[in-house]
Amino acid sequence: MTTHTPAASRTADSPFVRACRGLPVPHTPVWFMRQAGRSLPEYRKLREGIPMLESCRRPDLITEITLQPVRRHGVDAAIFFSDIMVPIAAIGVDVDIVPGTGPVVAEPVREEADLARLRDLTPADVPYVTEAVGMLTEELGTTPLIGFAGAPFTVASYLVEGGPSRSYTRTKALMHGRPDVWNALCERLSAITLSFLKVQIEAGASAIQLFDSWAGALSVRDYRRFVAPHSARVLAGLAGYDIPKIHFGVGTGHLLEAIGEVGADVVGVDWRTPLDEAVGRVGDRSVQGNLDPAILFAPESVLAEEVARILGEGKAARGHVFNLGHGVMPDTDPDMLTRTAALVHELSS
Ligand code: CP3
Repeated sequence: MTTHTPAASRTADSPFVRACRGLPVPHTPVWFMRQAGRSLPEYRKLREGIPMLESCRRPDLITEITLQPVRRHGVDAAIFFSDIMVPIAAIGVDVDIVPGTGPVVAEPVREEADLARLRDLTPADVPYVTEAVGMLTEELGTTPLIGFAGAPFTVASYLVEGGPSRSYTRTKALMHGRPDVWNALCERLSAITLSFLKVQIEAGASAIQLFDSWAGALSVRDYRRFVAPHSARVLAGLAGYDIPKIHFGVGTGHLLEAIGEVGADVVGVDWRTPLDEAVGRVGDRSVQGNLDPAILFAPESVLAEEVARILGEGKAARGHVFNLGHGVMPDTDPDMLTRTAALVHELSS
């Protein structure tokens, strides 16, 4: 059975949702990963003195921060202000988001006994998410709200390493050394992820993005064996909802076929792979991307050329959602993001 939520019906004709579905659009839709955040002075002002995870539990702050980039840049979608570690914190795991570092987990998950700390999430654990999504969908009207979660591998990497990592040594050692514990960990994480995404969809999100940001660190063989089945379980759990599902990772050029098979409608591509090449590899899906976030620091004439090139390459796709190849860097001049959104609209209509 397919569920059509009221918010999803309201945004079904938006350029963003149509491009995700591969339908004709009046212009190429655009939004930016990390569009809400430190590049905006109005964000920095609002967050002053409030720790990251606390700001993710306050519906008034979530709503305002989510809307800031929509007002300022005229993007075609909002992304819910939260973090991939919010559901983990909500079930009682001691995690902090340290400014300039990222998520830090007090007691890493490394053996079977540690799994008991990862119970499933219920809507009652995250009432602030339901409330904020409800407020946002009212405010946004026909502009879609993208809900999101971290994919099991990327969240597991923080839990196992205890924080950010360059090499994912302990994570890889666990998946190879104790595949039973690894799979049990990822089964728990896929249940939590699925529950968290359902809360956002039931409350009114019009699309979701599953971030497997660090999957690019894996070989195709390991990705298929240890990661893809768990992400696929999350997406399969959402099959009943008639909303677009986006799947994204960084440095995944070698994984695009495998990522395409996980079951999303849209595959996010970073700047390392040209979109027209990605299109041939992800199967019958739309693509999202893929401006190098560093180009926002180059002269505007360079930006215009890059936007035009990417729009041209995106024409090969069933549908194209313009985005960066990864998140906005904190010291980006926000006017360059506004200019990018305008250029995408101008050059594609
Ligand atoms: O605008 C948006 O994209 C919505 C909000 C969003 C945040 N985190 C807010 C945030 C989203 C979609 C995320 C996802 C997220 N969080 C990912 C996947 C996306 C990606 O970039 O690959 C990952 C890996 C995380 C974990 C995480 N949280 C990191 C690596 C960091 C950065 C640490 C730092 O200080 O550089 C965070 C913190 C974080 N999440 C911030 C924001 C706005 C910065 C915190 C602050 O403003 O103090």
